[in-house]
Amino acid sequence: MKTICDLLGIEYPILAFSHCRDVVAAVSKAGGFGVLGAVGYSPEQLEVELEWIEERVGDRPYGIDVLVPAEIAGVGDLDAADLEKMDVKRMLPEEHLEFVEGLLARYGVAGLPEQRDPSRAGLSGLSLPGTLVEVALAHPIKLVASALGPPPRSMLEAAHERGVPVAALVGTVEHAMRQKDAGVDIVVAQGTEAGGHTGEIGTMVLVPEVVDAVSPIPVLAAGGIASGRQMAAAMALGAQGVWTGSVWLTTEEAETHPIVKEKFLRASSRDTVRSKSRTGKPARQLRSAWTEAWEAEDSPGPLPMPLQPLLVEEALVRIGRSASAGNEGAKQLVNYFVGQVVGSLKTVKPARQVVLEMISEYADVISDLAGEVDA
Ligand SMILES: Cc1cc2nc3c(=O)[nH]c(=O)nc-3n(C[C@H](O)[C@H](O)[C@H](O)COP(=O)(O)O)c2cc1C
Repeated sequence: MKTICDLLGIEYPILAFSHCRDVVAAVSKAGGFGVLGAVGYSPEQLEVELEWIEERVGDRPYGIDVLVPAEIAGVGDLDAADLEKMDVKRMLPEEHLEFVEGLLARYGVAGLPEQRDPSRAGLSGLSLPGTLVEVALAHPIKLVASALGPPPRSMLEAAHERGVPVAALVGTVEHAMRQKDAGVDIVVAQGTEAGGHTGEIGTMVLVPEVVDAVSPIPVLAAGGIASGRQMAAAMALGAQGVWTGSVWLTTEEAETHPIVKEKFLRASSRDTVRSKSRTGKPARQLRSAWTEAWEAEDSPGPLPMPLQPLLVEEALVRIGRSASAGNEGAKQLVNYFVGQVVGSLKTVKPARQVVLEMISEYADVISDLAGEVDA
């Protein structure tokens, strides 16, 4: 079986997940592999982003990632067109709407100048993964990745017809076996310390379990990897490469909200929490007044996906804008997805430097370890 570097046509087995095209392009240009998180983009926007990346990376490879939730509460059997037609706002309980408004009022968060269409909010990307993949497959992408469940057969077939490998993120060995049966080409074993949607098992335990379960399918390790030492540990566990997310959020290129970036740089590895408060599924993020309010006694509790993103999408935009305008309450609330490795992110660096430092430290560790074994 081909190595990850051969399969993806890369120099270094470092994959970088990012919603930011600049990070994706910088990592691919540095010899790693940038993966654009397509959730949140409309098909038209995605087209623009992919063209932009291609202009920068030339013939260097890159990929995209979509979320394909295995079940979407209350709307699971509906397709994208059905979702577009639905008056989704009616599905949001009054108690939850009042809780969110009350929270924003308590922290003095301003409204938005323009009226947003609530029936459209939060659904892009969740309801349209198939369309996004179709758009992406018309570009020279070299990987389609999917999270939250096995990719639909049609997605796998469409990618494979064009010779594009498919990767899937998993948080348990059972999920990994399902992905193997579904026919994915690469499994990303993502430990609980990762930023974003994540399970309960740590990277150190999960990776070797998954490597053994899906062999000979190549496995990438994810969750808590931001340095060459952590990369070396992941390779020692049997991974063929690393899949990283948090480390890019404090790079020069990242479009992370400036207040959130500052909070990340000050945070320790104890400052994250798995919370359903942004998406309705457990997702690791920075602890803030927002996550604490959802855990408080008077909280009605988060709604299931996709209702929670619909409920909070506008509130999160308002919080971000108010925080940028200097509102102290909004600064306390504002947060974002990030993993426990945030505690090691202390300086802002160009993404290229992150790739090169990771590889150089990895090489040093490997040669030190080899030296110790020889001795
Ligand atoms: C800000 C952020 C957003 C994420 N969004 C997604 C996503 O949309 N799809 C996905 O497959 N993974 C997503 N993830 C998870 C990453 O793909 C990756 O597995 C994870 O960041 C690796 O762990 P680390 O954060 O410790 O590096 C996200 C992670 C972060 C930090």
